[in-house]
Amino acid sequence: MTATETPIVSEAIPQRVVAPLTNAAIFLIVTVNASEAGRAAVRSLCSDIGALVRAVGTRDLKEDLSCVMGVGSDAWDTLFDQPRPAELHPFREIRAGSRHAVATPGDVLFHIRAKRMDMCFELATQIMDQLRDAVVPVDEVHGFRYFDARDLIGFVDGTENPVEQAAIDATLVGEEDAAFAGGSYVIVQKYLHDIPAWNTLPTEAQERIIGRTKLSNVELDDTVKPTSAHTALTTIVEDGKELKILRDNMPFGRAADGEFGTYFIGYARSPRVIEQMLVNMFVGRPVGNYDRLLDFSRAVSGNLFFVPSLTFLENVTDDPPATPAAVIDTSPTSQPTAPIRDGSLGIGSLKGDARHE
Ligand code: HEM
Repeated sequence: MTATETPIVSEAIPQRVVAPLTNAAIFLIVTVNASEAGRAAVRSLCSDIGALVRAVGTRDLKEDLSCVMGVGSDAWDTLFDQPRPAELHPFREIRAGSRHAVATPGDVLFHIRAKRMDMCFELATQIMDQLRDAVVPVDEVHGFRYFDARDLIGFVDGTENPVEQAAIDATLVGEEDAAFAGGSYVIVQKYLHDIPAWNTLPTEAQERIIGRTKLSNVELDDTVKPTSAHTALTTIVEDGKELKILRDNMPFGRAADGEFGTYFIGYARSPRVIEQMLVNMFVGRPVGNYDRLLDFSRAVSGNLFFVPSLTFLENVTDDPPATPAAVIDTSPTSQPTAPIRDGSLGIGSLKGDARHE
């Protein structure tokens, strides 16, 4: 039985990872100050976050406010007791030619979504009011929905997302890590596009890079879709079954500065699925057959977080963890592991791993 087929039997209530695509989002990443007071404030927010979302969200229920809180690998040990989520580790940097999936600092992610930006902004403000002296903000990106769910390179983004039970199966940890069932892994990357260069390409060339038609958003036939197409390289099939992730990418930018970006956010039951997609994109499948979207897009951030269940968060107390791991690590930043320079993830291939069989 594969991980994606294992039923989720936990009683734990998940955070709202599987939420409908919204018109607005804020991606807020902070590092936690290396003091017990700082860590206590973050622990305190863990148990408060559900109430904060209710307090802001109830003011206009139809705007569907939600917030997903994720915690990075190093921060996990300083904030919480053992055990830790089985597959939580720092974001794995990838270098291949001029392409670089960079790892950047970040201890806690807040993925705030609503139909209106003012709701997102109000919640982000209230979160920061509680954390102001406890954290250093690393990045705050305000994403907007662009026309018919297009990214700023002009293509509809999000079409092949799993929905309903398939989305739950793809994103929520189950029996394979029972202590953390109902949790999820999330990888975020901030990309900047060279839109003037992209716009010099004929539409047909852009379509071959993405693997779909631009206006009508139809998948290219396999006879014309190159193996280097973005949608080909991010399709991972094992034992005849496609391994899905849930994306909620958002455009962002500053027109006057010529900044055009896509904030990539992908949720999965195991980070290995997204990591394999990144290797395929940056290194290539086979090596060298990389994603040409990266000739026009540069990753300027990269983080991996674990999203514990809401039940886990509600049970966090202000007390420091008792286990020694908590006092070993005083760094507020996530340290990248050894970069990946070839097609191997360095963690064993997905195939052959019990979680993916
Ligand atoms: C520069 C940033 C990115 C842009 C602009 C972008 C854009 C797109 C577009 C337009 C599609 C086709 C429509 C759809 O199914 O959503 C797509 C599909 C997809 N992308 Fe991306 N993407 C980006 C980065 C990534 C990254 C970093 C990953 C994973 C590591 C990823 C994973 C996927 C997957 C899994 C699909 C669906 C493939 C399929 O089943 O057809 N994307 N992306």
